[in-house]
Amino acid sequence: MSTPLHRLRTAKAEGRRLAVLTGYDYPVAKLLDEAGVDAILVGDSLGMVVLGYPDTTFVTLDEMVHHTRAVARAAEHAAVIADLPIATYETSAQAVASARRLMEAGADAVKLEGGVAKAAEIRAIVGEGIPLVGHIGLLPQKVREEGGYKIKGKTEEEAARIVEDGLAVEAAGALAVVIELVRPEVVAQVTQSLRIPTIGIGAGEACDGQVLVTYDLVGLFPWFTPKFVSPAATVGQSIREAARGFVERVRGGE
Ligand code: KIV
Repeated sequence: MSTPLHRLRTAKAEGRRLAVLTGYDYPVAKLLDEAGVDAILVGDSLGMVVLGYPDTTFVTLDEMVHHTRAVARAAEHAAVIADLPIATYETSAQAVASARRLMEAGADAVKLEGGVAKAAEIRAIVGEGIPLVGHIGLLPQKVREEGGYKIKGKTEEEAARIVEDGLAVEAAGALAVVIELVRPEVVAQVTQSLRIPTIGIGAGEACDGQVLVTYDLVGLFPWFTPKFVSPAATVGQSIREAARGFVERVRGGE
């Protein structure tokens, strides 16, 4: 049977490029589903763009469960992938227990950050029959340790490590891997080396698919837009104008 997850798994072999966007609530997720995205990622980026935290390291599993439930109610055709937040997959047992909570909330698959270093936890989750997407390159959950969001793969050593991470994630059983903010030539090498699809963000065109934070794409977080995003709408500005118009009409006695 052709389920959304099956379509993700077979995309690379069938030469289909994957279009993935983040979703955090029912109405936006429903719009993305209607637009035909392959998957909706309930990313822990919601920490910044929805909850107002400075980065993703403040997001809790309870928050991810809450948002995953809303997105799962909306998704009819797209696969729902939910992020395991920081400190919820430190051991194999903890990783499996956390992944189960996201699956019970309605996710079709979970995602976690890390390559070679997280192979055991990935294997444990997949071993329990839980589909998993990897995430290599820049790891937003390590932003505080690394002192910012810096492009990866600049040195030969770092490039080789990223390729190894991709191979480790695939060998551990992941069905796809997100590659974030990595130099395009390294991304091309990873994409060629893997049978599973690579889904890039700020990683050039050599991936098997692309993912973006929807709020960046539609201009709904206008206070910051990553350099690699060209917003395709100005939803934030539309909200501001609609609210201003409402304020003026109410104060004017209309
Ligand atoms: O949390 C998120 O939205 C993500 C994307 C940046 C891939 O992990």
